[in-house]
Amino acid sequence: MPSVNIIGHGDDLSVNGIRIGDLSPAAHEAIDKEKGGHNYSPLENAVVSHVKDSSTLIVRKPDPKEIDKYIESEIIDGLCCYSAVNQGQLNQTIVDAVVTHLTKEKLPTVPRSIRHKYMSAFLLATTGITGMDRVVPKVAGVEAPELMFKIARRWGYRIKGIPEGEAIIVAAKGNFHGRTMTAISLSDDDLSKEDFGPFLTGIELVPFNDCDALEELFEKKGDRIASFMVEPIQGEAGVIVPDDDYFPRVSELCKKHNVLLAMDEVQTGFGRTGENFAHQLFGVKPDLMGCGKAAGGGILPVSFVAGRDEVINVLTPGSEGSTFGGYPLAAVVGTYAIKVLVDAKLAEKAKIMGDRLVGNMNAIKGDYPDKIKEVRGRGLLTAFEMYDEPYLDGHAVSVGLLDHGVYAKETHHSTVRLAPALTINESQIDILSEAIRSVVKSL
Ligand SMILES: Cc1ncc(COP(=O)(O)O)c(C=O)c1O
Repeated sequence: MPSVNIIGHGDDLSVNGIRIGDLSPAAHEAIDKEKGGHNYSPLENAVVSHVKDSSTLIVRKPDPKEIDKYIESEIIDGLCCYSAVNQGQLNQTIVDAVVTHLTKEKLPTVPRSIRHKYMSAFLLATTGITGMDRVVPKVAGVEAPELMFKIARRWGYRIKGIPEGEAIIVAAKGNFHGRTMTAISLSDDDLSKEDFGPFLTGIELVPFNDCDALEELFEKKGDRIASFMVEPIQGEAGVIVPDDDYFPRVSELCKKHNVLLAMDEVQTGFGRTGENFAHQLFGVKPDLMGCGKAAGGGILPVSFVAGRDEVINVLTPGSEGSTFGGYPLAAVVGTYAIKVLVDAKLAEKAKIMGDRLVGNMNAIKGDYPDKIKEVRGRGLLTAFEMYDEPYLDGHAVSVGLLDHGVYAKETHHSTVRLAPALTINESQIDILSEAIRSVVKSL
């Protein structure tokens, strides 16, 4: 009969006699390769031990003197878990709320079939910050676009009057909405789809930032299109910022053809781009929006879909649900994640620090115009793209940055995304920028 013996905490945590604190980066990698699914390829020779402050990670690297030992060093987190930690690691307000909740208030988990008092706080906070009528809580980020997809189809049949089984959801080429079957059915990234088919039908893709293509499709099939689902800025695609007039035109088109504008703000929301939600940069209001990542304050997975009355109201008891969506602890974390967004003026900070970072990166581009092709971003969702040459490889930049005390990860081959915590300070932005300069120079 399989069994396991688990004792201790932290570095003294031992599982079947293997003490975590004794493992070198190579030993961690070996366990990962032997026991884990190979669905990621993490940065080599680095294992995060703990955080020092809101933007600083303590990382274990191989000891140059003894291969089975490690040394610890500080690195600035230039990615903050793909924008899940906008409020900064271990944000004190959120940690205090969690500790108080678990030790004094004492209500970790009850199901949705009985009301709990913290759900009211969560609904008031989420509808308040989004300006939407209703909110449905979920857990992982991908569940937000997943649910928007379902709601849009049902709205299409029940409200718009699309004949049963004929609803179309339009998405943008280059999109990233997560990894469920719905999300990869929407994707045009072959790597995420290979041998996972058959995929969902009733999906059409148009180029991002191309209003004419959308108009053409709406003119042809508008009576069967339920929704256009889109990221306000495409994050995983490499921080692709649309033209200023794109979304105002999209919004008009959606209204004209009675199509729901559903925005995936999982990565762009919660202050990341210099506004609380990136659609606000473009002066439009979606009918549905999905949030995740920083909705959980960097502590718990929390996501939700917010929307207009008429749209969310297509959900009926028994048609949708999730055990941990809005459970008491998540409701508390989600509420305080919003409190910090507002009280710490995270969007304003993202704009100021983002302007500084983009300014620094443009200066580097000015010095190395043969290497850096473009610097992009809004607020602290930023990236630089290099020319597509073999030695200008994003992975080499990520490895080089680690040697210079910065964590950032390439997206696609030649783009490096930088999206640090919105609590990052000026000197940390400058350290990050100088590390980029040194690595770019060395390529
Ligand atoms: C726009 C967008 N939607 C959805 C997701 C999926 O979120 P999760 O990985 O938490 O499921 C992501 C993740 O990067 C994202 O960027």
